[in-house]
Amino acid sequence: MRRERARDEKTPVLWMVVHGVIASAIGIAAGLAIEWFPEQASTQAGPIDHLYDVLIWTSVPVFVTVSIIVLFSVRNFKMRPGEEQLDGPPIHGNTRLEVIWTAIPAVVLVVLCSYAWVVLNDIEEAHAGEMRINVVGQQFAWTFEYPQPGGKPIKSTQLYLPKDRPVRFYVKALDVIHDFWVPAFRMKIDAVPGIETKYRVTPNRLGTYPVVCAELCGLGHSVMRTTTHVVTPAKFNAWIAEQKAPAAASAEGEIDGKTLFTDGNGAATACGSCHTLADAGTQSETGPDLDKALAGEDAASIKQSITAPDAKITPGFQAGIMPKNYGDTLSAEELDALVKYLGEAAGK
Ligand code: CUA
Repeated sequence: MRRERARDEKTPVLWMVVHGVIASAIGIAAGLAIEWFPEQASTQAGPIDHLYDVLIWTSVPVFVTVSIIVLFSVRNFKMRPGEEQLDGPPIHGNTRLEVIWTAIPAVVLVVLCSYAWVVLNDIEEAHAGEMRINVVGQQFAWTFEYPQPGGKPIKSTQLYLPKDRPVRFYVKALDVIHDFWVPAFRMKIDAVPGIETKYRVTPNRLGTYPVVCAELCGLGHSVMRTTTHVVTPAKFNAWIAEQKAPAAASAEGEIDGKTLFTDGNGAATACGSCHTLADAGTQSETGPDLDKALAGEDAASIKQSITAPDAKITPGFQAGIMPKNYGDTLSAEELDALVKYLGEAAGK
């Protein structure tokens, strides 16, 4: 009788091990096959993705082991009819088992933490020639400031970065907590009012990548997005030069308010990405329809709608959605051109 039971107990253990190994192999293969992340666009992305793969290798077998033991226990140790009044068998612990199930997770955790620490240390390492960029989050826009030696910083709502140049972001928030995230770089950090947070990135792939706010920050959270442009150093220098001389356009001729409306200026986001205006051919409904909202308004009122958008709110829309930084990211000439264009085009 005793021998028989001993044999019966070995069989399910073997069954569990075999199925555990198969399920783990399938889980790991699936976990590694899925493309979890967008393309890698920074030197930080590789080590982070590798860390993620190692975590899949480790966590899938843990998950499978726990699940199989739970399922096995539910099936084999459940109460059967007629056992309602019975107590379970008295169990007084098993020292060897407890040592094992404490020691193994402890070792796994120490190894993983050490590895993660090494990766973190590695991706946060300072490099020569590092460029400083200040990132300012506010409801609901990002502003990037490029300090200029002996001059005013260049401000932009589009993030321009030269390829292969190490960058350190100094991140701040003006109102509530936001989170500065470029998924293609893999790095993200909270923007917290009253605190300056920082991280380093070295972009190593040309292209455009989304900048996302990763902290629920209010009604406009989902539209608190902009674009990172990783460009060649030559193009970057040209962009900086262009930003330094925003009046250059007016020297050649009048600034085109319509183009500004549909395309933005490289620093300011295009109005047309949120507003409908028949003359410009834009149709977004994130913000008020300007053909209705601005028709018949005078220049001062239109200007106020751009620089102080919450002063007067169109019925049916909420205060605080439109970024409040257009007074900063548009030059005086650009603002005038835009006001003039809107005065002529709205409700036409
Ligand atoms: Cu800012 Cu979400």
